[in-house]
Amino acid sequence: MNIVTCVAPVNIAVIKYWGKRDENLILPINDSISATLHTDHLCAKTTVMASADFKEDRIWLNGKEESINNKRLQNCLEEMRKRAKLTTDIGSWKVHICSENNFPTAAGLASSAAGYACLVAALAGLYNVEDNISAVARSGSGSACRSVFGGFVRWYMGSEPNGSDSIAKPLVSPDHWLEMRILILVANDESKKVPSAIGMKRSVETSDLLKHRAEILVPRKVDGITKAILEKDFPKFAELTMKDSNQFHATALDTYPPCVYMNDTSHAIVELVHAYNEASKEIKVAYTFDAGPNATLFLLEKNVAEVVGVVKHFFPPRIEGDVGVEYLKGIPVESTKIAEDLIKRIDVKRQDAGKLKYLIHTRVGDGPKILRDQKDHLLDNSGLPLRINN
Ligand code: DP6
Repeated sequence: MNIVTCVAPVNIAVIKYWGKRDENLILPINDSISATLHTDHLCAKTTVMASADFKEDRIWLNGKEESINNKRLQNCLEEMRKRAKLTTDIGSWKVHICSENNFPTAAGLASSAAGYACLVAALAGLYNVEDNISAVARSGSGSACRSVFGGFVRWYMGSEPNGSDSIAKPLVSPDHWLEMRILILVANDESKKVPSAIGMKRSVETSDLLKHRAEILVPRKVDGITKAILEKDFPKFAELTMKDSNQFHATALDTYPPCVYMNDTSHAIVELVHAYNEASKEIKVAYTFDAGPNATLFLLEKNVAEVVGVVKHFFPPRIEGDVGVEYLKGIPVESTKIAEDLIKRIDVKRQDAGKLKYLIHTRVGDGPKILRDQKDHLLDNSGLPLRINN
């Protein structure tokens, strides 16, 4: 086969990666742990095709041709070509790459992890590479190395100068904690944020808090959350997840000049989660925020309907009629009437309509998958994208 199409998942860190010890190889200053999200609701899809007729390597992202001369992209291509195990000439042919996300890029959800994991997995299919491709995905984007596995995943920072042991490994399989659910709250926010690569470089250079976090605090947290995941101890998992998100944003603020990723809506979500857990007299939901204002909530299946109802009440959609169609995407949720008494006990202000664009309800899923159906390819027989965006 000289054409391969693959899908790969998004992952959300519960113990965050923030800071590199080697910018070139993308080696982190601490281990991190993430949950892999189900590709049905969020994924990257990539087709790679090699041909003796192609004049040059080319790439199209979300229907638009982009420059192939991007260092991270070149690193992945070069390394996969080096690892190729082929009996044909395919390895010496030029490639065309076409990649799309099944979620709007405008939503501001990190897509580089899924994108690089998908590219590397598709190239592995094309070049017949069977080794652990996590380190190659890492050279595209650090967090991408965790997207090559399903379930909960740990990225070991490693100690080898060449990065050979800085790889991700699955902690538990996707079906270990079947009750776990994830709700992504997409915030309305147009403001420009410092890209994570630049933000973390600045943090490494200026934040003493980050140094302490990476050297002393993260190793303890990694052990703690691993135990919570293995034992399916939701309250412990939730507490560690929220504290790590808060600490990551504290180091971002300790950076000079500071990196501000959360906005008023994000802070209102934090307040709501704590008020709701308090009103429930148990920890039912946890939040985590990456380098942007969107919240990812972790919760158990039995609490999804109530939490969605609570979020809808305190963050009403812009047009009430949209509820259920536009406002909630992903796994359907039965709409339930939230007890007046619970709403009263949640001591936070109801927000103006439209602070959240929509919610995505998903669960933990598998790693990258090769799609075998011809219909799935994003490139036609001549190697050009089937869909172009101008
Ligand atoms: C806040 O993986 O996007 O999402 O390695 O420079 O590509 P690069 O950074 P990236 O950083 C992700 C940071 C984070 C935390 C995490 O996913 O662990």
